[in-house]
Amino acid sequence: MFANRIAIITGGGSGIGRAAAQLIAKQGGSVIVADQSLANAKETVSLLGSGQQQQHLALEVDVSKSDSVSHLFNEVPKAYGSGAVATLLANCAGITRDGWMIDMSEEAFSKVMDVNVKGTFLTTQAACKRIVDSKSSNGGSIVNFSSVSAKIANLGQVNYVASKCAVEGLTRTVAREMGRHNIRCNAIIPGFIDTPMIRTVPEKVMEGIKKQTPLGRCGQAEEVAKAIAFFLSDQSSYVTGSLLHVWIHRYSNDPNLMEGIKKQTPLGRCGQAEEVAKAIAFFLSDQSSYVTGSLLHVSGGFAV
Ligand SMILES: NC(=O)c1ccc[n+]([C@@H]2O[C@H](COP(=O)([O-])OP(=O)(O)OC[C@H]3O[C@@H](n4cnc5c(N)ncnc54)[C@H](O)[C@@H]3O)[C@@H](O)[C@H]2O)c1
Repeated sequence: MFANRIAIITGGGSGIGRAAAQLIAKQGGSVIVADQSLANAKETVSLLGSGQQQQHLALEVDVSKSDSVSHLFNEVPKAYGSGAVATLLANCAGITRDGWMIDMSEEAFSKVMDVNVKGTFLTTQAACKRIVDSKSSNGGSIVNFSSVSAKIANLGQVNYVASKCAVEGLTRTVAREMGRHNIRCNAIIPGFIDTPMIRTVPEKVMEGIKKQTPLGRCGQAEEVAKAIAFFLSDQSSYVTGSLLHVWIHRYSNDPNLMEGIKKQTPLGRCGQAEEVAKAIAFFLSDQSSYVTGSLLHVSGGFAV
């Protein structure tokens, strides 16, 4: 599926990125594993099989630094020959620095934005420039990472949630701007996937999460890697700007369903019919004179 293609996988030294590197190599691609940990990137490369036309590379890269990203992309022609271009990019590098919004340091906020948002921007921009300059008729494909946390506005992750919402917006804009160059850009929204990133979540909390997941378990990195391969391959040739959920919503099978729903509602209670009536009156009156086509949640925060 990826014969004669070069794929850059950031964050390829661990978790989802490592599984993606393994799958893409298995399917014939040459993989550049770019990670801030060179040792982990090398370990990933040691796990990759390679056929005659394949060559894999491990590079130490900090995606949040433009010099480091330039170095990464400049290595491609050096390693694969002049004119060689990486047309496939999976932006798996990502970090968390959790804490309550009210106590969060500026450093924790900026660090997460730098890696998750700026890092995705820098590598995406570098990849697109080179693909466009190469005038390759194959175009290219980029996969970014949002998170279930962005969908449920996860508590204690205001920096991470903001960063993943930003990645979704970036993905859609890149898709619109780069479509005319046949460069596609999509994002995956993983649920809870069993990688080092979530191994700090307490066992009890994980049990609760599993109960709220209809499949009753965390996902595996290999399952997300299959979605990455879909987006990077020709299988998704008419898919761009899309956001793919690799998770299922948090509605519970709990027999105490109503209690569970209340617990998941920030205001901690069901709404009253009168409260919906106030919203109806707002829409029907002149109070909403410049409001049209809008969808208003009257959910106590449940649907946020
Ligand atoms: N695991 C999950 O449950 C989950 C859920 C939703 C979204 N995600 C997202 O999926 C992506 C992959 O996550 P994962 O679970 O494989 O995490 P992971 O922690 O296993 O791997 C992340 C990798 O990124 C690398 N990295 C961190 N900062 C970097 C930087 N500045 N430059 C280069 N590399 C850097 C790390 O060294 C690590 O190898 C992330 O964007 C994450 O936010 C994961």
